[in-house]
Amino acid sequence: MMTVCRKSLFEETRIGPVTLRNRFVRSATWEAMADSTRHPTERLVEVYRNLAKGGVGLIITSATLITPETTGLPGMLGIYDDSFIPEYRARLTLEIYDEIRARAGKDFGILIKINCSDFGEDDGVFAACRYACTRLAARGIDAIEITGGAGSVPGLEETGFEESVLRNYAAEIAREVDVPVIMVGVNRTLRVMDQLLNSTGIGYFSLSRPLIRQPDLVNLWKNDPGSETECLSCNQCRQPGGNVCPFA
Ligand SMILES: Cc1cc2nc3c(=O)[nH]c(=O)nc-3n(C[C@H](O)[C@H](O)[C@H](O)COP(=O)(O)O)c2cc1C
Ligand code: SF4
Repeated sequence: MMTVCRKSLFEETRIGPVTLRNRFVRSATWEAMADSTRHPTERLVEVYRNLAKGGVGLIITSATLITPETTGLPGMLGIYDDSFIPEYRARLTLEIYDEIRARAGKDFGILIKINCSDFGEDDGVFAACRYACTRLAARGIDAIEITGGAGSVPGLEETGFEESVLRNYAAEIAREVDVPVIMVGVNRTLRVMDQLLNSTGIGYFSLSRPLIRQPDLVNLWKNDPGSETECLSCNQCRQPGGNVCPFA
């Protein structure tokens, strides 16, 4: 007698190169959770994380705009330039983090200094930075230092600020991650840093050149909050024989 093999909704099958753990498919479902630039938000990533955990065998992603001219639906995803593939840019960083964490253990502090923009053409650096920061935060990185510029520190022309020039980038990253955010880049005035500390999620302020000129600057500020940093941000301390300030 011929035996009829009964199919199961929960059996493993293959479609093309993909192995499916069951026969249930999430059909494409517009989530309305992309940001205003049509990039995925952490909330949207969470939807997919929950779907994957929830057992469905195959997830078909939602409708995605392929040109910036199309209006589409609110919160619809887009994919029409390189800024939409930050996953690839961030991959090496994430893999390095994972390897360091695996080898060093959870009690070892791991921080990253990461560019928020190269300040050239719109290059997708911020989207890649934001993606890397949210993924690193979710993985348990201990702090993120936001920097920027390609070789030189950006100034008023590129950022609109004379000091604490990366404040808007760092504040936006701080809104998206729940790990300490450190900001570097022309932090020079205690009053400005104090105001940013109390009006954004930026928790720490890095200094490089001011501490070349005045290694005791933090003590000076503590004793006299009005004291000014003497650093002129002129970069003359960059000397091959040793980086020292010629004016100190
Ligand atoms: C002489 C000098 C050496 C630097 N060396 C490094 C370095 O080794 N690694 C790094 O990530 N940044 C380095 N930087 C960049 C600083 O950490 C910092 O991001 C930048 O100078 C902006 O901060 P500031 O405005 O307080 O100087 C260096 C900067 C200077 C002036
Ligand atoms: S050389 Fe210029 S930038 Fe460097 S520490 Fe001295 S004043 Fe600051």
